Amino acid sequence: MSINNQFQDLVQQADLNSPAPETEPERQAWFLARARRIVQNRRAQQDRALTFRVETFGCQMNARDSEKIVGILESAGFTEAASEDADFLVYNTCTVRDNADQRVFGRLGRAGHLKKNRPGMKIAVCGCMVQERTNVEKIRKSYRFVDLVFGTHNLYRFPEYLCSALESEGMVIEIWDRADRIVEALPVARKYPFKSGTNITFGCNNFCSYCIVPYVRGRERSRAPMEILRECQRLVADGVVEIMLLGQNVNSYGKDLETPCSFAQLLTEVCKIEGLQRIRFMTPHPKDLSDDLIRVVRDNPKIARHIHLPLQSGSDRILQRMNRHYTKEQYISLAQKIREQIPDVSITTDIIVGFPGETDADIDDTIDVVRRVGFDNAFTFIYSKRAGTPAAKMPDQVPEEEKSRMFDRVLKAVQETAHGRAERLTGRTMEALAEEVNVRDGRYITARLSNNMLVHVPGDASLIGKMLQVRLDECRGFYFFGTIV
Ligand code: 5AD
Ligand code: SF4
Repeated sequence: MSINNQFQDLVQQADLNSPAPETEPERQAWFLARARRIVQNRRAQQDRALTFRVETFGCQMNARDSEKIVGILESAGFTEAASEDADFLVYNTCTVRDNADQRVFGRLGRAGHLKKNRPGMKIAVCGCMVQERTNVEKIRKSYRFVDLVFGTHNLYRFPEYLCSALESEGMVIEIWDRADRIVEALPVARKYPFKSGTNITFGCNNFCSYCIVPYVRGRERSRAPMEILRECQRLVADGVVEIMLLGQNVNSYGKDLETPCSFAQLLTEVCKIEGLQRIRFMTPHPKDLSDDLIRVVRDNPKIARHIHLPLQSGSDRILQRMNRHYTKEQYISLAQKIREQIPDVSITTDIIVGFPGETDADIDDTIDVVRRVGFDNAFTFIYSKRAGTPAAKMPDQVPEEEKSRMFDRVLKAVQETAHGRAERLTGRTMEALAEEVNVRDGRYITARLSNNMLVHVPGDASLIGKMLQVRLDECRGFYFFGTIV
């Protein structure tokens, strides 16, 4: 029996005439049963379905959390709406850079207007942004129409908060400073039937000096290997062919477990799952990427030929101030080792420009790494000051115009190398997983290569979720046009 079914049984068995149980997950199952009853009654009263919308900002972790939120809302009897004009609207927020915060506040303002025309509408804000007290204060004071605010550590209690929001007026706020446990078994609604993310760790212990994540996601906690493997098996039984293992620093997986298990060991076990065709992981930290892991990737063709290896900076001086624990040359040797050991691997990265104290000489170093490694793709970010992080207190903050000049320099270098990298694959035939009908031209479908690049091929929706053999006919910079062979 799958985990989800076990939870659904608990929901069925919940006795709403008795008080809510104290133990988990029974308690959340009880609240989900109660939410179902509320939704059913309202539907009957209003003679229409109740709708929900979940808007997600930020990383893969948040995308996965949103699938959990959607799972609970669907399970409670809501149906998905096509826009934010819905009965239950959730913003699952990100706070990694300031523009992410600003976007949420802008959207929230507009949601307030929608609420005026929709009696009974409820608005919830969750995720990383509300783990910061100042943001909660701002919502409390200036966005008084918000009904529910909850954080990252207590997401598993969403059924309980959902009931409170549905049954009461006024703002319900529940933010915890740390996680008390990892609760398995809550329902999850996957966005794609054929691929899924799976959390392997929550939180981060690295404290890179610019980064807010360790403060909002807390200390690193690993899920037990059996739980992960069971979830993967259940996903595969349910039609999933590609799984991405998710963690802020996947290499440090398992160090906190009673019986330690390395990431390389976990990955080896996941590879053994029959029917699972492709495995990805995100994100390794260069300081912890072991030879063992490289070997496991090399020897298991199921593991995608793609390593996202955040560089952040190519300057030793800046890397040290960022608290990254590697040097420029160490990073380059690691990337070269990966390229030598794993043929056809693509290496992508994250780069921050405009870190406090950064000069053009530091940017020269970053560009030097970009050229020497030859990244297949890179996300370049302008440094954003996050309150409470060590870098925010550094005196030598770089002026905005300087930062954007540096950004342009790095971006240009990245684009030049990435184009060259994609070009070399033209003419090859490779495996690609069909993901969706092309958004621009419905006669094509978009498929993903093992190295994470996209290829558009003539085809229709019936191919979605299938692993195809595709010839890469034409390179268009970061993506290809191809044909199924
Ligand atoms: N400013 C800019 N970029 C940041 N990142 C994390 N924190 C900041 C910040 N304060 C980037 C890093 C990380 C990616 C997810 O976001 O490059 O790898
Ligand atoms: Fe942030 Fe560094 Fe942890 Fe990544 S490894 S989440 S950049 S602190």
